[in-house]
Formats: sequence, structure tokens, C-alpha cells
Amino acid sequence: MPRKKSYKAICEPMWYKDAIIYELHIKAFKDQNNDGIGDFAGLLTKLDYLENLGVTAIWLLPFYPSPQRDDGYDISDYRTINPAYGDLKDFKRFLKEAHNRNLKVIIELVMNHTSDQHEWFQRARRAPKGSPEREYYVWSDNPEKYKGVRVIFPDYESSNWTWDPVAEQYYWHRFFHHQPDLNYYNPLVQNEMLKIMDYWLAMGVDGFRLDAIPYLFEEEGTTCDNLPQTHEYLRKLRKHLDSKHENAVLLAEANMWPEDSASYFGKGDECHMNFYFPIMPRMFMAVNMEDRFPIMDIIEQIPPIPDNCQWATFLRNHDELTLEMVTEEERDYMYKVYTKDPLARINLGIRKRLAPLLDNDRRKIELMNVLLFSLPGTPVIYYGDEIGMGDNHFLGDRNGVRTPMQWDADRNAGFSDANPHKLYLPVIIDPEYSYATINVENQLRNSNSLLWWTRRLIKMRKRFKVFGRGKINFLESDNTKVLAFVRTYNDEQILVIANLSRYALAADVEMQSLKGLTPVEVFSQNKFQKIGNKPYPFTLFPYGYFWFKLVDDKEHRQVIPTSDHEMPEVNRWADLVNATNEDIVKNQILIPYLSNQLWFNKRKRNIESLRIFDAVPIQGKPYDFEGYTLLLHVTYFEGLYEKYRFAIGFAKGREERKLRSDFPDAILARITFNGVKGVLFDASYG
Ligand code: GLC
Ligand code: CA
Repeated sequence: MPRKKSYKAICEPMWYKDAIIYELHIKAFKDQNNDGIGDFAGLLTKLDYLENLGVTAIWLLPFYPSPQRDDGYDISDYRTINPAYGDLKDFKRFLKEAHNRNLKVIIELVMNHTSDQHEWFQRARRAPKGSPEREYYVWSDNPEKYKGVRVIFPDYESSNWTWDPVAEQYYWHRFFHHQPDLNYYNPLVQNEMLKIMDYWLAMGVDGFRLDAIPYLFEEEGTTCDNLPQTHEYLRKLRKHLDSKHENAVLLAEANMWPEDSASYFGKGDECHMNFYFPIMPRMFMAVNMEDRFPIMDIIEQIPPIPDNCQWATFLRNHDELTLEMVTEEERDYMYKVYTKDPLARINLGIRKRLAPLLDNDRRKIELMNVLLFSLPGTPVIYYGDEIGMGDNHFLGDRNGVRTPMQWDADRNAGFSDANPHKLYLPVIIDPEYSYATINVENQLRNSNSLLWWTRRLIKMRKRFKVFGRGKINFLESDNTKVLAFVRTYNDEQILVIANLSRYALAADVEMQSLKGLTPVEVFSQNKFQKIGNKPYPFTLFPYGYFWFKLVDDKEHRQVIPTSDHEMPEVNRWADLVNATNEDIVKNQILIPYLSNQLWFNKRKRNIESLRIFDAVPIQGKPYDFEGYTLLLHVTYFEGLYEKYRFAIGFAKGREERKLRSDFPDAILARITFNGVKGVLFDASYG
């Protein structure tokens, strides 16, 4: 194998279009020094986990010093690390290790406000009225200014103004009263933020999530949201970024209606990325109403975006499932169907994680993830949702969705060895979601777990550029419970079919425009009926879905490469064909591999099934490897069955590198064998 390219060499421009982002809070992931709070040293030990999951970027929630009254979004110092999480040295080590694994790191730039404990605020309240120091923030002698501007956290604040007895003025805040808004009319403030951005970029971070970006400026007689001044400053920030740092991205958090949301891309000269807030609640609506309309409608409302820009999509994050940008009717509907316990409501939203929102229904969880991974945009996964973690809304504010990551069934879910009372938040012990059963270790052991399923989904998505870059065309069908669309990028076409309903159903999908192409189901590589002149009939299980690659007649071989499959860890050869693994070896590795071999495919028969009827260890040459011969019984959709002998080897280190350079097509899967990382390969190859 060619030596791993250096991190810089793989920094493609527009990498964010093909990214898969994993959102995590440092305090919640892994506690290494056992003080009950996660830290950078802990995260370092879990980078392998993230690499194996297949994500390509980590978005870290705020890790700066902070009184922690808004989980770190109340920053008291922008230039260092909260001592509970480590220090700058730890951060740099983490960054380097992440980059060694080709994982990008996106951090938070909270520009709209600081903590009231920030020295700028402490200085401002004491500085003379009207002085540049005072003017770091937004002040007024009366709380009537900017009347009518919406309050974002109505459960906690009744006004955007709070009286400061030291300054003897009111100060402006769009969020909590302890988060005074910075005053962007002050050029000093504008410059401070540019310098803070430079400071972290110099360390090597790959991008920033711009928190609460629509609220930077205020103006009388407006909603104070999305003002032109705010866009002007964003263009300045972008110009500054581009002049100094190649390939770093700005990711806007702008929870707005479609037009306003899209405005944060500017003409490709503001933010590279932008959360796709409008679609998120509508995906939940669609699956509950069992109707494709909410999804199609919102996508059609979204204006086209510049070529260098990309939406970031998500199902859940660290905040409530926000219902700010839906109609009142829609909000009532969402509350009714998604919050059986009114305590789960907060502000204008629902404080729940993905699995509990979807009634812990594996089929619904898969369907929603498949939609997330197929609709336009770069998907963002919230930590813990890949194993179906539960939540605990009794913890107050949004803490219920911020509990420790569940690694195993040991004390504190393997998150920390501290006294359980010392944890920053208690682990989930609700019987349905208890860490004793819902944890990474359990799910790694079972290749049918949600975790393994998510890994496969991620791997599959990464094989096709079309998901991150392609355009979308909806297909008509006679059944409104079925969402059908084609994503297209250059000559790559993926067809997505999704059943939004709880029952099995049939639908005729209008695909005549794709006549002559053959849908190949991507996970099995099974070919379906060629598309003809008539609507195409699909039958789907409850919440069923398909991903098809559309191929023409010339393209029948090697629809997708198989070499980057990943097997669960095994300790002995015999484990490879045990009850859990045999299925993977057969259906995910051998059948696709064999079908793609020219020697095998000469007769062009489609394999129906494959049985391993014996397996014997071998010692092989010319490579120094351990091996296993499998005796296979192959049946076809047409004609007689056949028997084959198939030799599998395990190679690691130097042998693996040699194989990768000499016979890359012989590699079957990546695997950890008896604690050692390596690959399984076709030992009779060539
Ligand atoms: C963003 C964050 C949220 C925070 C708010 C105020 O919306 O996602 O967690 O409370 O900004 O900083
Ligand atoms: Ca710690």
C-alpha cells in the first residue's frame, strides 16, 4: 500500500461536501482522569472508535472556560481550554491524532454573545458610558428599544434586556440574561473575532460552527434577525479566512425559514455550510403523518445554492428539536405526537433524543437515518444516536440529551471510574435504554446492532460522491406514503425509495425517464428488473427503504468495490463462520466478491444463495499468512448449483501492504484478528 498520505495532502477543497460529521461534547465522551467529566485525554482514546465508525469530521461543542450556565456557550475566555477538559497541549495532541486519522475538526465560534463573566463584559459595565470599552456590548437606558423582537428562550427569559446595576443601563441579550450580546457596530469587536479565528486556525482546526449567527446586529423597527449588516460582516469574515487559510470552513447555525436560511451562503462568499433547519422537523412530521408531502414541499421551497456551498443535515443535536420554524398548526401536531409527557417540551421544542422520539423502533430509526443520508447535504450525527441512546428530561434544560456516552455495562457506562455521584450528569438507567444494554461494547459484538448498521450505512455512502454532491429529482408515484427520488452527479445515479408508513405496501413509481437502466440494490448488489416503459412496481415492508445504483448494460461488473468492508473483531478462524459472522461473510463479502470475478461470472448467472458447508485451516505460500479454506455450495436463480473451494487468508503489516500494492482487488475486508488489525483476502487470487 502506498504510504498514508500526509494530512495536508488529502485536504481537498470542498471536502465538506463529502464529509460525515460527528457532533460530540468533550465532557460527555470519555473521562480519562476520573473526575467525572470527560476530557481531551479521554477523547484521544476513542478516536479509533470514531475512525471505525467511518465519520470524517468531528464537531466539538464549546470547550472554553465558562461558568457553564449554558453548557459552555457562555464563554469567559476564547483563547484557552476549560481546565476540566485539559489544556492547550492536550488539545493540540488531540488535533494531531485526529488529523493522523484523516478526521477533520470543527470547533465552535460563539460570536453573538459572551458570558457576563468575560473580562470584556466586566470591563464594559465599569467603563464610562459611550466609551469603546463600554460599547463592546449593546446598552440602552430603557428596555423599550428594539421592541417586539422575539425572545428565543421563552421558558427562561421574558425580555431581551436585563438591568445591570453596575453600568446603570440595560444590556441586550438574545439568549440567557447571563449571555450579553456583543456589539458588532464596534469595529474593535469585529476585529477581536477575526483574531480569535486566526488563533485557532493557526493551531490547525479545520472549521468553525458559527453559533447563533443571525443575531449579530440590531436595528430599530426590524426583527433584528438576518440584518444586511450581519451578512456584510460575514463576507468580511469569509474574506479574511480565505486570505489566510485554505480549505477551512464556516458552518452557520441559522435556524430560519428556507429563504433566510439560504441567505447565509451569500453568493458563495459567506458561509460554506449551513444547517438545514427547515427540513428537520418536517422529516419527523412526514414519518408520523405517513406522507411524503412535508419533505417534498420544503425541498422545493429551498432556493438553489452556490456551487461551493453545502447544507448540513441532522436529525438530532445537543439542543431541543426546535419547532420555531414551523406553523402553529404544525407545532401543535408535533407536540401532540412526539411528547406524550409535557415535561419533554422546552422553549419552542422537544428535548428528546432520536431513539425515544421514534419509539425505539429500529425500522423507523433506520428509515430516518437513510433519509438523512440520502437527501441533499452533509449528514451530522449526534453522539450516542448511533447506538440508540435514551434521554432523561428530568435533568432540566437540555441536559437530558447530554448524558455520558455509553461505552459498556461497567460502572458509569465505561465513561468514567469516578464515584457515580461525581459525574457531571447521571448516566441513563431507564430500563428500556439502560447503559447495561445500550452500549458500544454490546453492539460491537453483534453485527446486527444499530451501531454495525450505522457503520455500514456510512461506508456505503462514502462510496458514492452523488450523495454529497448530486442534485435531487423527485419521482411521482401512485402512493403518497412512498418517497421516491433520484440523486444524480456526473454519471452516477442513485435511486432512493422509502416507505414512510407502518404497513407493508405497494407503489407504482414513474420511472419511464430512466428507461433502459437497471436498479442494483447497493448493499446486496442484487439486480432488479430493468426499467421499462411502464411505472415500476415496488413492494416495501413497513418503513422499508432501498438504495439502488442505476446501471446501464455495459456496467454490470464491479458495481461497487468490496475491499473496504469491515468485519467484527474475531479471535479464531472458526469465529469467522459462527452464527453472527457467517451471514456477513456470505452475504456481504463472498457473494458480492464472487459475482464480480470475471472467472466466476463467465456464465453470467446470478447467485441466489451460498452455503459454507466446511471450513479447514491452511498454511499458505507465497505470502506468510494464516488461512482457511471454505467449501462453498452456490445456488443460482437459474440452472444447477455448484461447489467451490475458496481460500481466505489474513494479512497484516508488511504482508498487508504488499497485498494492497500488488493485488488490491484480492482484498475482501478489513478485520481485527486476535487483537491485530489487518485484512482478509482471496488466497487463491491470480
Ligand atoms: C445555540 C446553541 C445552544 C445555545 C445557544 C446560545 O443555539 O446551539 O446550545 O444555548 O446557541 O448560545
Ligand atoms: Ca476528566
